[in-house]
Amino acid sequence: MKTSCARPPSILIILATILFSISCANSKQVNLHMFFRCLTNNSSPFHPVSQAIHTPNNASFLSILNSYIKNRRFLTSATPKPLAIIAAKHISHIQATVICAQRYELEIRIRSGGHDDEGLSYVSNNPFLVLDMFNFRGLYIDIASETAWVQAGATLGELYYKIAEKSKVHAFPAGVCPSLGTGGHFSGGGYGTLMRKYGLSVDNIIDAQIVNVNGSILDRRSMGEDVFWAIRGGGGASFGVILSWTIKLVRVPSIVTVFNVKRTLEQNATDIVYRWQQVADKLPKDLFIRAMPQAVNGSQEGKKTVQVSFIGHFLGKSESLIPLMNVRFPELGLQQGDCSEMTWIESTLFWADFPIGTPTNALLWPSKADFFFKSKSDYVKEPIPKTGLESIWKLLIEIGEKGWMQWNPYGGRMSEISESETPFPHRAGNIFKIQHFVLWVEEGTETTNHYLKFSRTLYKAMTPYVSKSPREAFLNYRDLDIGIASSSNNRTILLNNARVYGSKYFKGNLDRLTRAKASIDPYNFFKNEQSIPPSPSNPASSL
Ligand SMILES: Cc1cc2nc3c(=O)[nH]c(=O)nc-3n(C[C@H](O)[C@H](O)[C@H](O)COP(=O)(O)OP(=O)(O)OC[C@H]3O[C@@H](n4cnc5c(N)ncnc54)[C@H](O)[C@@H]3O)c2cc1C
Ligand SMILES: *[C@@H]1O[C@H](CO)[C@@H](O)[C@H](O)[C@H]1NC(C)=O
Ligand SMILES: *[C@@H]1O[C@H](CO)[C@@H](O)[C@H](O)[C@H]1NC(C)=O
Ligand SMILES: *[C@@H]1O[C@H](CO)[C@@H](O)[C@H](O)[C@H]1NC(C)=O
Ligand SMILES: *[C@@H]1O[C@H](CO)[C@@H](O)[C@H](O)[C@H]1NC(C)=O
Ligand SMILES: *[C@@H]1O[C@H](CO)[C@@H](O)[C@H](O)[C@H]1NC(C)=O
Ligand SMILES: *[C@@H]1O[C@H](CO)[C@@H](O)[C@H](O)[C@H]1NC(C)=O
Repeated sequence: MKTSCARPPSILIILATILFSISCANSKQVNLHMFFRCLTNNSSPFHPVSQAIHTPNNASFLSILNSYIKNRRFLTSATPKPLAIIAAKHISHIQATVICAQRYELEIRIRSGGHDDEGLSYVSNNPFLVLDMFNFRGLYIDIASETAWVQAGATLGELYYKIAEKSKVHAFPAGVCPSLGTGGHFSGGGYGTLMRKYGLSVDNIIDAQIVNVNGSILDRRSMGEDVFWAIRGGGGASFGVILSWTIKLVRVPSIVTVFNVKRTLEQNATDIVYRWQQVADKLPKDLFIRAMPQAVNGSQEGKKTVQVSFIGHFLGKSESLIPLMNVRFPELGLQQGDCSEMTWIESTLFWADFPIGTPTNALLWPSKADFFFKSKSDYVKEPIPKTGLESIWKLLIEIGEKGWMQWNPYGGRMSEISESETPFPHRAGNIFKIQHFVLWVEEGTETTNHYLKFSRTLYKAMTPYVSKSPREAFLNYRDLDIGIASSSNNRTILLNNARVYGSKYFKGNLDRLTRAKASIDPYNFFKNEQSIPPSPSNPASSL
């Protein structure tokens, strides 16, 4: 049993547990040794796997581990470390890792960009290995067919940069942070400023390659439509190792317009946000306006206020945007001087908070984990009343500038796609999605607990204003507070547990996900704290 060592069933048998843990730890060492031999046996002789293995004895271990940790909450000495990192350099290293980890009962975590908000791609409470994908960052853009092929370890910044090298009028709908890995980001949904026009990343994926539990390489045809459906929003980590995606590029005008207009409470932010809720999801698809409330120092010494940033992205020139805003959302008072016109690729830098004029190769720069953070998410289906907004502002002022929310409008293309088209179910009927974010730089468990508590308090206070039964959540804003998988092997128990978080992330799509899981990984090798368990009722895969 893989997990019995880590989770003693009762204090009464603690001695037995300690003895068992010791023998278990030894057997893990033996397993690890056998695992490495198995890796060598199963890897291509022309691509020695030894060059891909980093154990704590290799000087490279910590730098490799840490370079793709994006949240300092999981960059402490107390964070559980892997037994080894396999930074695959050849497909056979990935296949061998899957085959051998199963044979020697070692858990694996798959990591692409390393942004998982709860560190699930590189932390586990069980003895585990990290299968690192950062060497798999190939990219091929084909403008003639308006498609691209991108490997799982490539970042969004690399993808955007390569598209722009080939065309100024093509783009891909995905996130705003350039260092996100396509392996995790696409398989969890993937949204950004083009969402109202073109939907999510998963709505624009046409093929994928994965390594399954047997070490076979499958494409859309050989994995079948259920699994291909599942990895487009159900998370990759439950189904196999994603090697690459084939994506459909989308068209953008050669000039787009961006703005960031800020309004404090004294400048009628409450009224404007209230109005924003009425229009943001109904505006033309070409226009995406995010609202971002945050506490700031007021003009009066020592007095805080809330400032709401309205950050806009328009697929067109400002000469079309201004009259549109004057008709549809005059309360914001958008002026020509607030607008900047640029190419789409330059707009990706703007959204990543680079100053206007930054060279586009900044999209290729590695990012550092220089802060601690906690994310949560919510969906809003009815406008929040002004009294509600005021109570939210009060809480934001209490937490200070370390906590904020991003309100991302839905509607447009998002409402045209059915809830079951992909595992991502949050489509028509949502005005906007909230990302709750708390970010801090001070170290220490006490500080961390303080901010985690704050995040939970704010989340609780939002209950009256957000979706209910289930309280929906976005998989890419991973949040272990909303439920954790059982460590049991009993499928009924696993499924009951998975319903808690799975219904929030996937609503009615959970059942199809568990069937897809049963067809590709019936013995649940690919698992983590919030993975999809195999359907208990699938006769083809009963234990
Ligand atoms: C600063 C920041 C900004 C963000 N901005 C956005 C945004 O604009 N839009 C948005 O939608 N999301 C956003 N996110 C969330 C982000 O999309 C998710 O965290 C996503 O999972 C990151 O993918 P990754 O490959 O970088 O992470 P990883 O931590 O490597 O992976 C995340 C999950 O996917 C699994 N996984 C990774 N690679 C593979 C693979 N090759 N095969 C199978 N499973 C795999 C991991 O095991 C893990 O469970 C943001 C997150 C951060 C921290
Ligand atoms: C590796 O292969 C050798 C020779 O084929 C075999 O003797 C050995 O048992 C294998 N080891 C593992 C761990 O598979
Ligand atoms: C790690 O150390 C082992 C043992 O010395 C060696 O075989 C392996 O090649 C090293 N890994 C890397 C990536 O250098
Ligand atoms: C706020 O709204 C009031 C009443 O609608 C208006 O008179 C005032 O000019 C507005 N203030 C700002 C800064 O827009
Ligand atoms: C806000 O004011 C406090 C003191 O009242 C100060 O410590 C802090 O740095 C200020 N924050 C910003 C962003 O200016
Ligand atoms: C699994 O758990 C369910 C619910 O607790 C129980 O009814 C069932 O007997 C268990 N199955 C096995 C095989 O232990
Ligand atoms: C894995 O291999 C076994 C044995 O060959 C086979 O029965 C099973 O269907 C395969 N599983 C998958 C998911 O391909």
